[in-house]
Amino acid sequence: MKILIISGSLRQNSFNTVLANLIQKTLNSDSAQNVQASILNYKDVPFFSQDLESSVPEAVASAKAAVLEADAVWVVTPEYNGMIPGVLKNLLDWLSRPLPDAKNWRDTAVFGKPVAISGAAGKNAAAGSMKQLETLLSFMGMKVYPKACGIAVSAEDMKNDALSADALKQAEQSIKEQAEGFIDWIHTL
Ligand SMILES: Cc1cc2nc3c(=O)[nH]c(=O)nc-3n(C[C@H](O)[C@H](O)[C@H](O)COP(=O)(O)O)c2cc1C
Repeated sequence: MKILIISGSLRQNSFNTVLANLIQKTLNSDSAQNVQASILNYKDVPFFSQDLESSVPEAVASAKAAVLEADAVWVVTPEYNGMIPGVLKNLLDWLSRPLPDAKNWRDTAVFGKPVAISGAAGKNAAAGSMKQLETLLSFMGMKVYPKACGIAVSAEDMKNDALSADALKQAEQSIKEQAEGFIDWIHTL
């Protein structure tokens, strides 16, 4: 089973990308489940405009191809002013658009794909942005795993721009539980 992970932050030391890496490592280490997890690189995806759709940019085509190839997706989001970041919304808007040979609006790279949601943010543990993301991904026709996992990054870890050893251990445990639940749930679909 192939799982594509999307971090909602392009920041160098992003806590969400740390989580994305943890998710990848956790999924790939469970040899019994035979999962191949990878992280999407979408830094070159341009701002969406319908004007660009007549000749879809290479970075968009390759993001769509990576999603199409995956059996499931896992999105990890920060929280910006209570919402998901613009870069993530921009990517998801592109992914929600019909494929070149689409017969109807459901013919997208994402429609019908199982998806899990996690997030790292301040003391609200990305509760607001994860809720929004659930609404958005459902709107796009994705099958959303109902157990999201939010990590609250402490003020000290924010200041150090790195998770403490304890916080990392807790995150590893939470991600392990979510990964096991997600894989089991995918098998029931
Ligand atoms: C523009 C902006 C708005 C933010 N708004 C919130 C917020 O509403 N709630 C919250 O918990 N954290 C908020 N934060 C903090 C981020 O969630 C936090 O810095 C997070 O670590 C960013 O994700 P990253 O480390 O993956 O880049 C905000 C940060 C920025 C830059």
